[in-house]
Amino acid sequence: MIITPLTVDRIPDLEKLLALGGPYIRLRSSSDYWLYATLFADTCPLALIDGQVVGSVIAFRSQVNPSEIYLQDVMTHPDHRRQGVTRALVEEVRRRGSLWGCGRLFLTSEADNRAAHTTWLGLGFTNVAGDRTEHGVSVMLDYKGLGKHRAVYERLIGA
Ligand SMILES: CC(C)(COP(=O)(O)OP(=O)(O)OC[C@H]1O[C@@H](n2cnc3c(N)ncnc32)[C@H](O)[C@@H]1OP(=O)(O)O)[C@@H](O)C(=O)NCCC(=O)NCCS
Repeated sequence: MIITPLTVDRIPDLEKLLALGGPYIRLRSSSDYWLYATLFADTCPLALIDGQVVGSVIAFRSQVNPSEIYLQDVMTHPDHRRQGVTRALVEEVRRRGSLWGCGRLFLTSEADNRAAHTTWLGLGFTNVAGDRTEHGVSVMLDYKGLGKHRAVYERLIGA
């Protein structure tokens, strides 16, 4: 497996991968991916196997708190799950954050996404205490706007 930053020429392959990610991954526009490849590639790694894009993380370093990196979308091709693809991609983002002196990775997921919940715990994230528990997961109400409740996970960099 090769981990490499997102580049503009690989956007069509990334879009094909992310189109398989429903219901938890929603495809964004091509110009969004252009932006990620052009301005945020250091935190948007792809995983390649035999030249095919089989995994991706789209993440951003906060300008409000530059100590934090937010992971927006994480996706592994269904044929390549449980093979350490996300583990390798998140490690790449953590390594980058460590080089920058960042202190925290964080992300949100939906409470019923069991595979994601188990993955975040397996990768050393903790489920941040929220307002209520759904499906055994702590959830922050209205975290992403009215009615958009989310489970929040964090992992300290270096920990
Ligand atoms: C969640 C997702 C990204 C995990 O990707 P992955 O490449 O399969 O994850 P990894 O192989 O790196 O797994 C890392 C660890 O997470 C845990 N894990 C991952 N998937 C799991 C599952 N389905 N059940 C239980 N544990 C799981 C394991 O502890 C695993 O380590 P192990 O295999 O050594 O035991 C993948 O299932 C996916 O793409 N889902 C659809 C999109 C999505 O929901 N993205 C997240 C939105 S927040």
